[in-house]
Amino acid sequence: MADEPLVLGIETSCDETGVGIVRGTTLLADAVASSVNDHARFGGVVPEIASRAHLEAMVPTIQRALDTAGVKASDLDGIAVTAGPGLAGALLVGVSAAKAYAWALDKPLYGVNHLASHICVDQLEHGRLPSPTMALLVSGGHSSLLLSEDITSDVRPLGATIDDAAGEAFDKVARVLGLGFPGGPVVDRTAREGDPRAIAFPRGLSGRNDPEYDFSFSGLKTAVARWVEAKRRAGEEVPIADVAASFQEAVTDVLTRKAVKACRDNGVDHLMIGGGVAANSRLREMARQRCERAGIRLRVPRPGLCTDNGAMVAALGVEMVWRGRTPSAFDLSADSSLPVTDVHVPAADIGHGDIGHGDIGHGDLHGQAYEALGGGAG
Ligand code: KG4
Ligand code: ZN
Repeated sequence: MADEPLVLGIETSCDETGVGIVRGTTLLADAVASSVNDHARFGGVVPEIASRAHLEAMVPTIQRALDTAGVKASDLDGIAVTAGPGLAGALLVGVSAAKAYAWALDKPLYGVNHLASHICVDQLEHGRLPSPTMALLVSGGHSSLLLSEDITSDVRPLGATIDDAAGEAFDKVARVLGLGFPGGPVVDRTAREGDPRAIAFPRGLSGRNDPEYDFSFSGLKTAVARWVEAKRRAGEEVPIADVAASFQEAVTDVLTRKAVKACRDNGVDHLMIGGGVAANSRLREMARQRCERAGIRLRVPRPGLCTDNGAMVAALGVEMVWRGRTPSAFDLSADSSLPVTDVHVPAADIGHGDIGHGDIGHGDLHGQAYEALGGGAG
């Protein structure tokens, strides 16, 4: 429908330069340029390399998204951007680009929370989120259970990991098993050949007196490392696929059990799962079975929309326009530790993790945006 908001979303919190264009709940373009291969030999994301790659990819990726969507930049109703949390320098490139385009096009700017975007993206697949929404958010940096009445303004954490995030555990276990980086997808693939019941790895914080909605994956990661080390020391072959499958089973068991309990306890009849780990095939299957048994409707976006992308930012930007939220001021800053409760960043004063305008690419991007738009004609 032509009267639905048309928003361009920019995501640069880690190693994906994502630009999405969404009209209402319809995805028109989802352009992603990843620098993941540049980081692989370091065994993890190198922030400086990520920032530089964002800077190089930004304008071409925006152009590609506009071409794919078949819309003119001047038709947009707003520009949304991940303001945090994430890598400081990487975020700054996206925020600078969003400001440059919003300024050049005279469009409203919406600085939004990466974590809320991971939830809102499901609107592109399953329609608008119900109120309240129960969300299990599992990514490389976060694992939490969130209850949201309104995804643009009210996200309440019920529980979160007290140590490692689920994705972090996947990445670390992959390293122990020599499977490379990033760990999640390769552990997922390797686990398909293994027996999930081969090794009984611990289920963190699952005791009777443990906090019911919090998670802990650090002990599990250590248990896997010790188990593998003992095998190697004994000169025995490590059954990689069985270790991967048993580890994955332990993670997904705890995540889905606690998520279903949170739904039941709070009288919520559906569950949304978002974030990179939501791409995990075993997590999706186990959640499907357990939700079905509990009479809970499951909403999980397709794997490509679970990992970082610009479409999720655009989806949340659309919701901001729909709900009439105040656009961000042009002194919007990136906040590497933006709390999950701050869904929308309307003004500059956003706390301790602030990163000022800095000099990473702002002037450069403004010039590029200006040129890409035909010297301001856009
Ligand atoms: O949401 P995301 O793309 O970036 C962050 O915001 O962190 O999540 C990245 C995390 C990484 O730890 C990655 O290993 C994990 O998601 N991941 C997976 C899978 N695909 C990505 N974990 C398990 N199974 C997967 N298929
Ligand atoms: Zn993410």
